[in-house]
Amino acid sequence: MRAVLMDGFGGLEVLKVGETDKPQPKEGQVLVKVVATSINRPDLVQRQGNYPPPPGDSDILGLEVAGTIDQLGPGVSGWQIGDKVISLVGGGGYAEYAVAYASHLIPIPSGMSFEQAACICESYITAFLNIFMIGDFQDGQTLIAHGGGGGVNTAAIQLCKALTPNSKLIVTAHPSKIDRVSELGADLVINYLESPDFTDIVKEFTQKKGVDLILDHVGAKYLAPNMKSLAYKGKLVVIGVISGIKAELNLALMMVKRQQIIGSVLRSRPVSEKAEIVAEFRKRAMPKFADRSIVPIIEQTFSLDDVVAAHRMMEEDQHFGKIVLKISA
Ligand SMILES: NC(=O)c1ccc[n+]([C@@H]2O[C@H](COP(=O)([O-])OP(=O)(O)OC[C@H]3O[C@@H](n4cnc5c(N)ncnc54)[C@H](OP(=O)(O)O)[C@@H]3O)[C@@H](O)[C@H]2O)c1
Repeated sequence: MRAVLMDGFGGLEVLKVGETDKPQPKEGQVLVKVVATSINRPDLVQRQGNYPPPPGDSDILGLEVAGTIDQLGPGVSGWQIGDKVISLVGGGGYAEYAVAYASHLIPIPSGMSFEQAACICESYITAFLNIFMIGDFQDGQTLIAHGGGGGVNTAAIQLCKALTPNSKLIVTAHPSKIDRVSELGADLVINYLESPDFTDIVKEFTQKKGVDLILDHVGAKYLAPNMKSLAYKGKLVVIGVISGIKAELNLALMMVKRQQIIGSVLRSRPVSEKAEIVAEFRKRAMPKFADRSIVPIIEQTFSLDDVVAAHRMMEEDQHFGKIVLKISA
């Protein structure tokens, strides 16, 4: 099969398209003929050699697939060859065929394109898990999401608007993306270049109360303003560390305000935990895709042969929403 392969780890130059063996589904897995996948920031980190796949998963890039079931592995029931599905995968999405656990499959809603469907698993499930399952975000509460133009954060805004329509969303964004973040539904957009310390702006917007939840992938640089922006009993969920991994924390303030800091990753969770998350996502979020109240935002679709251009677009932060990689017709 054709796949994106890597010549070692590093920059865009290590990516190449070539032939490799088709994977075989094991117990509880299916083989998916992949039509489309999408680019996620962790793919770039893996390409650079800093995010290896969990043991047993493919070392081909790609954390999600949209396609049709081509083969059922041993012990799989409830699915048919030809079913249109999406799935999280631990690796292997940038290829014509990938294996996925049957317990992680989600049927593609009727009328949705494979390209749109390929945007759902990694970004929307990450946002859903951390905001609604871990963060226990409730309607009427206030959230900060950092970097509103990316895949996870456009997903976060859309999910909050659809599932908690009375919530208030404060979103930090690059100046070039502020208008689109507002149009998507943010109640307050903060220019992150102009206001790297957003504490006073958040204080004024929340009338000194602070926010209930922060979804953060910036890390060290935002730890202090994040903690100062949290309300009493507020939660900071850390899903990335793009600005660094070490920062000073005022433990006394955290204790007195009974706040929580929670670290979270999706990819390395056990198969059974991911299956529980997928089941909850299917129940609560998928109806919003089926009735079109959430439509994934695609900046551009690239062919498999143009994978370098797709990675470059993400590396240069030129996208709003998702970048799709079309694998086959
Ligand atoms: N823990 C997990 O399970 C998990 C799963 C998936 C992703 N992630 C992490 O989540 C992050 C987003 O992933 P993605 O796939 O959505 O990537 P993406 O589409 O490239 O989004 C990257 C985001 O970073 C933002 N950003 C850059 N500099 C910033 C700053 N100084 N302040 C605030 N935001 C800034 C960008 O905002 P603008 O567009 O406004 O410039 C953009 O929203 C990555 O760090 C990724 O590793 C974690």
